[in-house]
Amino acid sequence: MNVTGQAAVVTGGASGLGLATARALAAAGARVAILDLGEERVAAAAGDAGVLGLVCDVTDEVRVTEVLAEAAAAHGPTRINVNCAGVPGPLALLGKHGPVDMAAYARIIEINLFGTISVMTKCAAQMREAGALDDDGEAGVIVNTSSGTAYDGMPGMGAYATSKGAIRSLSLPAAREFARHGIRVNSIAPGLFETGMAEGVPEPAREAMQRMTIFPPRFGKPDEFASMVVEICRNPAVNGADVRLDGAVRLAPQRT
Ligand SMILES: NC(=O)c1ccc[n+]([C@@H]2O[C@H](COP(=O)([O-])OP(=O)(O)OC[C@H]3O[C@@H](n4cnc5c(N)ncnc54)[C@H](O)[C@@H]3O)[C@@H](O)[C@H]2O)c1
Repeated sequence: MNVTGQAAVVTGGASGLGLATARALAAAGARVAILDLGEERVAAAAGDAGVLGLVCDVTDEVRVTEVLAEAAAAHGPTRINVNCAGVPGPLALLGKHGPVDMAAYARIIEINLFGTISVMTKCAAQMREAGALDDDGEAGVIVNTSSGTAYDGMPGMGAYATSKGAIRSLSLPAAREFARHGIRVNSIAPGLFETGMAEGVPEPAREAMQRMTIFPPRFGKPDEFASMVVEICRNPAVNGADVRLDGAVRLAPQRT
């Protein structure tokens, strides 16, 4: 897809990977709207990146519908949807005080997985309605964010890993289902990237990950994630994939 002039919606766009993606898409000529929590954060990020800021909890379906209509009114129908909104949620399956709190587990799945599904399907409806942009019949592209944890889950990361493993598993069936509408679906599985979320990872785990990263021997930079998003948008051959973006890090087996 030629990104220039296309309407793009980026969730989690007020910080980290989402903000870097919003900036990169805007620099490539897209008309970008970011969806995120907190009026001040969203306004600050949107002003900084020169994009439209919309306050929206991705688990609030009514609000998602509203802001996607607002984005479409401002920029035209969504052609690019990037879903970065997510929470890390370390949570023991069997803690000191007993089995995991199911409400806490469900909240992680609700934000990371159902939030992604809610936004991407509503954006896909706009893409289908808007129709083909080129001779291939391409109408839109969706990029979700899975995680290296979808492959190598560590102790205490079961809830997060199941949310991200599901996003990874969704790419191919969604790409197959949406193919007749000319919509591609992919996900990116980052290793550890330098964002606010990574700062929450305990120092021993950060050090271990850095040691195990084959090359380059450091954490990823948000711009490197954003660059992969833009390439996936541009390259029509990338479809139904979960693209690992992790410097070949593979976490060693570990028990608690
Ligand atoms: N940073 C990493 O190392 C890393 C690694 C693998 C995967 N990821 C994934 O990348 C994505 C982006 O994470 P990041 O590192 O940029 O972290 P981040 O905390 O900087 O960004 C996440 C954003 O999501 C927003 N968000 C959270 N819940 C939301 C909700 N209910 N509705 C709307 N927005 C919500 C937050 O406000 C925040 O701005 C996440 O899905 C994360 O799981 C990050």
